[in-house]
Amino acid sequence: MLLHGFAASTDDLNAAVELVSAAAPFRHLKTPGGRPMSAAMTSCGACGWYSDSSGYRYEPLDPLTGRPWPLMPDAFAVLARRSASAAGFGEFFAPDTCLVNRYESGARMGAHRDADERDFSQPIVSVTLGAAATFLWYGTRRSGSPTRVRLEPGDVLVWGGAARKGYHAVGSPEQDLFGAGVRINLTFRKAL
Ligand code: SIN
Ligand code: FE2
Repeated sequence: MLLHGFAASTDDLNAAVELVSAAAPFRHLKTPGGRPMSAAMTSCGACGWYSDSSGYRYEPLDPLTGRPWPLMPDAFAVLARRSASAAGFGEFFAPDTCLVNRYESGARMGAHRDADERDFSQPIVSVTLGAAATFLWYGTRRSGSPTRVRLEPGDVLVWGGAARKGYHAVGSPEQDLFGAGVRINLTFRKAL
């Protein structure tokens, strides 16, 4: 479900991204095969998504700093819970991690599904900040022609239930006349 403009006060969220990334810097993780991902990533919450030659997983400490990931900012947790509720997934969504993706010009994410979590009963809540981009929903198969959804800053996309393990991808951020356009995506998950 697309909740268009649901994140009304994006200033608070952008400020929280600054705080999180000051403590756990954005970095380009490598795929298990050794290729650097084009989106820069960091996390907050009780664990953080990570990838390197050992595979995809959640880490309780940030391997870059050796410290726990920053606490989930209240503005994040409140928005995630309100979004899951508005999309029909109940009042009690309590994500224990938020992956923060930063897409600079040309960065994108290929088709994948979010499958490193233990708890698939909980939905995924995905928030767009900064520049717009086109989200591609493939569903149960990685192939075929996806449904295209343009995500604008403040938009929230929620998928769960039968769609929880659906394949999805996202295109590069749209650039403005001056070539500026950085998209930030917050992905809330119950991982542990
Ligand atoms: C993701 O699937 O982890 C990110 C999707 C997005 O940036 O919209
Ligand atoms: Fe994903």
